[in-house]
Amino acid sequence: MRINKDLKMAEVIHMNHHLLPVLNRFDIYLGFGERTVEVVCKDHKINLNFFLEIVNTFHDPTYFPLRHLQSFKASMLIEYLRKTHSYYLDVKIPEIGQYISEIVQCSGFEENHRNLVKNFFDQYRRELTNHINKEEQGVYPYVLRLEKVLDSPRSSQETFDDLHKYSINEYEEDHDDVESKLFDLKNILIKYLPPVSNYKLLNLILHEIFELESDLNNHGHIEDLILVPIVENMEKEFHSRFANHGSNV
Ligand SMILES: [Fe+2]
Ligand SMILES: [Fe+2]
Repeated sequence: MRINKDLKMAEVIHMNHHLLPVLNRFDIYLGFGERTVEVVCKDHKINLNFFLEIVNTFHDPTYFPLRHLQSFKASMLIEYLRKTHSYYLDVKIPEIGQYISEIVQCSGFEENHRNLVKNFFDQYRRELTNHINKEEQGVYPYVLRLEKVLDSPRSSQETFDDLHKYSINEYEEDHDDVESKLFDLKNILIKYLPPVSNYKLLNLILHEIFELESDLNNHGHIEDLILVPIVENMEKEFHSRFANHGSNV
């Protein structure tokens, strides 16, 4: 069942509690009372259609309304993607890291297993941080600059030159998927570690990694299948309007 504007927000969470962190990215927190999705969005000054499309893509991975989502502004999408990044780096990764440092102290863990898990996770943390930093410092500012020029083309020659030099295809080509490496980490925990005394904590770590993996999957899809096509259209418009480096401004 799709999430629609007339459902109560509390029912949405009963339907799929994995949506809680997604709601938090819109600055929506628990305590909805009887308010509907539409009312909560209105109270928080959130674009209702954008909210519905994002939660539905998360709720049902087969639902990917490309045409609808491509009608939203890139800046709106980037605001959501940035909040997702900060959820990974400020909440999820430190949480899993904390659990991992606890589990490797458990009896049943030998030195080589301890090093294997810790090193693998540390390396993953570094790779994810680099991936996110590259987007936050490279492609996102480029897209926001492009949107600004298209909305109000009073910009410096330097801005036009910079925008002409870059293309979203460069991002698309080397945009690696960060979730597949989590599969290897899961396998280390599922297949190769001997049973440990604190099996509940190990189950919890595994559960958290599955959650992170599916969240990253949704995030990557939004970047590849929604952000990139939106920016491709923006670039087409930019090149047709400003072929002469802004001489027609
Ligand atoms: Fe990202
Ligand atoms: Fe990405």
